[in-house]
Amino acid sequence: MTFPGRSASSSASTGPLRSRRTVLRGAAIASVGVAATCLTGCEHRYEAKPEAPDEPVELGPADEVPVGGARLYERARLLVSRPEEDTFLAWSAVCTHLGCLLSPPEGAIAECPCHNSRFDTIDGGRPLAGPAYDPLLSVPVRMNDEGVLVAG
Ligand code: FES
Repeated sequence: MTFPGRSASSSASTGPLRSRRTVLRGAAIASVGVAATCLTGCEHRYEAKPEAPDEPVELGPADEVPVGGARLYERARLLVSRPEEDTFLAWSAVCTHLGCLLSPPEGAIAECPCHNSRFDTIDGGRPLAGPAYDPLLSVPVRMNDEGVLVAG
């Protein structure tokens, strides 16, 4: 059967359309596959936007943070660094690239397990390597009378 304005050869022109559809469908399936993979096996991936806690959070004894280094508080999604004996800095532990939770720092350097951005938690949370280009989000932190760090 032919339709007005279509020749028998017009059916051949659906070939590229099918190809485009196939490609788009394949891309959609691939995206779902990546998301499913990360939901099941990437516990650090694509958590959220970096943000400060809504209310103060007790993190633990200040002595657990090494001088010149940093510590990850995974449940609170915070990092605390300690440039000097009595100085503490806190950061959201959510990567500023696409929101993965950072890995426990080595020294004062925290790395993202997703795309390997690295951040200096002593020098302003600045990125040392991309793809992230924004620094970590700074969060207020203090030590209470019992020597416990309180963030937020
Ligand atoms: S989400 Fe951290 S580098 Fe991409």
